[in-house]
Amino acid sequence: MKIAVIGTGYVGLVTGVSLSEIGHDVVCIDVNKEKIKKMRQGISPIYEPGLSEMMMKNSAAKRLSFTNDHRTGMQQADVIYIAVGTPEDPDGSADLSFVDEASKNIAECIDHNVIVVTKSTVPVGTNHRIKEIINSRLMGRFTVEVVSNPEFLKEGSAIYDSFHGDRIVIGAENEHAFGVIEQINQPFNIPIFKTDIKSAEMIKYASNAFLATKISFINEISNICELVGANIESVSVGMGLDQRIGSQFLKAGIGYGGSCFPKDTKALIQIAGNVEYEFELLKGVVNVNKMQQGILIRKLKECVSDISGKKIAVLGLSFKPNTDDLRESASILITEELIKQGALVMAYDPIAMENAKSILNPLVCYASSIEEAVENSEAALIITDWDEIKNVDLTVFAKMKNPLVIDGRNCFSINEMAKNKVEYRSIGRPFTPQLVEAAPI
Ligand code: UDX
Repeated sequence: MKIAVIGTGYVGLVTGVSLSEIGHDVVCIDVNKEKIKKMRQGISPIYEPGLSEMMMKNSAAKRLSFTNDHRTGMQQADVIYIAVGTPEDPDGSADLSFVDEASKNIAECIDHNVIVVTKSTVPVGTNHRIKEIINSRLMGRFTVEVVSNPEFLKEGSAIYDSFHGDRIVIGAENEHAFGVIEQINQPFNIPIFKTDIKSAEMIKYASNAFLATKISFINEISNICELVGANIESVSVGMGLDQRIGSQFLKAGIGYGGSCFPKDTKALIQIAGNVEYEFELLKGVVNVNKMQQGILIRKLKECVSDISGKKIAVLGLSFKPNTDDLRESASILITEELIKQGALVMAYDPIAMENAKSILNPLVCYASSIEEAVENSEAALIITDWDEIKNVDLTVFAKMKNPLVIDGRNCFSINEMAKNKVEYRSIGRPFTPQLVEAAPI
């Protein structure tokens, strides 16, 4: 099948590369000339395990190419994927200007019938809007069918997820469109769920909102655990053993970040608001997350009341491990607050430091190792549960002025930290050694 993918951000590039891997001829289109130039040289603009290798392999096999020119890209495409960004508008709703632009480009460039597949996360009704934009310009010259095919990829394991997802959702209006998109996806060997377009659009938002709800729920439980003296790690394990609840997304921490949950939860509140429905539960989820992102500073201030002029180590900057993405990461808010209170911030992240330099307050300093970051520091705050941080030799904390670790991701055993004489504060867990300690999940 010949496929064009408009947009080479996270979703677009991973989609294009994965589709070429299963044998389709894919052209990725992007307006950013610099990006296209790099991708043609085999350089991936994002850090994603396995992506560069797969990109190079399929480019060499001539199944994958990159262009700035919409017309060239769409010339022979049977199917065109829209995978452009839908950033957050100031009111929380999804900004559809890139989707509209892509739709106009399709109408201007195609010279044959096509199926347009929307991968971008778009509010309910957008696929119909895309069809209208295209048809109003085509004036009946060609037939366009639209299909909603939302993605459920996680950053850091997007390539793995493409080949091992739980389901592929296809929302379409007729058997022909279902048939073509099913045929394209068949080699992935993942269960396909067929539905109408609006339900497919809603599945994406509802899934992300539900996962965000699980996180805010467990974070509130962790706050209560601290007050009543329970241990959130044991509580999460004990809850997760109930298959109706499931063990995933029950890890308490400093809240969710990234490019999807914060944006999609707010967008769904807006989507509901537009039809005069107040999504009270989801509003609570968003508020709890905001509160939770500030929890490390509160814990730090309980231990060190005045941090002015003191060196504070910040370990991990990305919103989660295995990505260089800092979007909506708690590190932004936390480093900003530390600087505001006069602390000397020394940050370390295995991968995300280059990105961080253009995003975080310029007063943040960067260390080249965990050891350098914590040396002579007053406290170390853990923001991201990278393996390198979780597996660090605990004796490294002896290099601190007064070993104090405030861990937003429950990376370490309370008992082990006590053995190493580190004052340790984590999320939803007691301070003192425990008789039975659930392994951090
Ligand atoms: C998410 C969805 O998982 C994915 O299906 C969708 O397509 C895009 O949004 P992603 O943003 O890449 O993917 O990251 P994810 O691994 O889901 O984590 C999101 C945030 O939640 C991270 O900040 C993570 O630290 C946090 N999280 C996740 C928790 O705090 N606790 C958990 O138990 C799980």
